[in-house]
Amino acid sequence: MTKSPLHIALLSRSPGCYSTRRLVEAAEHRGHDAVVLDTLKFGMFVESKSPQLTYRGDDIPEFDAVIPRIGTSISFYGASVVRQFEQMGVFSLNSAAAITASRDKLRSMQTLSRHDIGIAPSAFVARKRDVLPAIERVGGAPVIIKLLEGTQGVGVILADSVKIAEAIIETLQSTRQNVLIQKFVSESRGRDIRAFVIGDRVVAAMRRRAQGQEFRSNVHRGGVTEPVILDEAYERTAVRAAQIMGLRVAGVDMLEGADGPVIMEVNSSPGLEGIEASSQKDIAGEIIDYLAEHVRFADLDIRQRLSFARGYVVSEFTVTSNSPLDGVRLTQSGLKSRGIMVMSINRNGQHFPAPTGDDELHHGDKLLCYGPKVALQDFLPSMKPRVKGKKVHE
Ligand SMILES: Nc1ncnc2c1ncn2[C@@H]1O[C@H](COP(=O)(O)OP(=O)(O)O)[C@@H](O)[C@H]1O
Ligand SMILES: [Mg+2]
Repeated sequence: MTKSPLHIALLSRSPGCYSTRRLVEAAEHRGHDAVVLDTLKFGMFVESKSPQLTYRGDDIPEFDAVIPRIGTSISFYGASVVRQFEQMGVFSLNSAAAITASRDKLRSMQTLSRHDIGIAPSAFVARKRDVLPAIERVGGAPVIIKLLEGTQGVGVILADSVKIAEAIIETLQSTRQNVLIQKFVSESRGRDIRAFVIGDRVVAAMRRRAQGQEFRSNVHRGGVTEPVILDEAYERTAVRAAQIMGLRVAGVDMLEGADGPVIMEVNSSPGLEGIEASSQKDIAGEIIDYLAEHVRFADLDIRQRLSFARGYVVSEFTVTSNSPLDGVRLTQSGLKSRGIMVMSINRNGQHFPAPTGDDELHHGDKLLCYGPKVALQDFLPSMKPRVKGKKVHE
């Protein structure tokens, strides 16, 4: 843990809002100094080997860390400022890439969909004639229609009939809005769970309930909150979702589906007011502690870094039952002698980081490796034969 005080830049357009005030307070309470800077007052200067930022036209002093609180109305500019800080070697609590990826509801659903966590079945189509089949495919009416970048419940509509849904989608698309068609998780009508994730744990959670006829449980739509202790499935899902999105701090919204948690969205600048009030916890303080502990572990794209060594690649592959690796100990597998490093093993969703030797490999294990391409390709499973049959026509 870093003991020295940090010089923190808090990017926010609203210095007076609860979350901003609490973060500054918590930072100062721990002996750091935090200054609130208006994201739009930064200027970015992109020059070879010398990325620079100005604030109100002047050069900025050196910072150790950035806490981005980027509103959805300035996602692009805000993420660009964060990225500029990253290029200058300043740690950001959430990375620009993760903020951008989580802003778009389609993009985040796409990213989450290949993993073993519950999400609401969603569809995205362009042609008018594809709308009706898309609605049917996600479960028919009533159906949810969402703007890709909405927030606080604005831009989320519940359409009672397929006809109304079609009309709404057509209208929105005619004004060049991107809309997501989503299954209405009716068993969770009017309520959802907000899990507040810091690093690899949920530090607090609350249930939000809509009032009256409203189906949206957002606090901005009048939803009321109550503290809730999450069961393991919800907790695991929330942490996994934040990690997959690459967010260190996240507000993960989940519906309570019949088969367990259904992720709706993952917020990169979650508000503190509701969650601190309902949990009675010092969440701002936990964020600052986490920041101080991780400030020297900035995000990096390992594939990009490691492939600088010519002929070396990062590869993730599954051990098949006819692989020479199945049933063999890591030490005897021939991987090490051929210069291949196993960085982690994923067995049925369980991770074994930096495995060293005696672990026996099994088919189904997913290995994340780094090594010479020529050696690695001998261990990769062969490409699946293509399924014959259906053809697409133009
Ligand atoms: N698929 C769905 N099924 C049931 N309720 C939903 C669904 N999607 C959204 N809602 C309700 O609408 C609210 C807002 O949706 P959300 O996707 O979180 O948008 P926003 O970014 O505007 O908060 C949710 O908190 C939830 O109460
Ligand atoms: Mg929401």
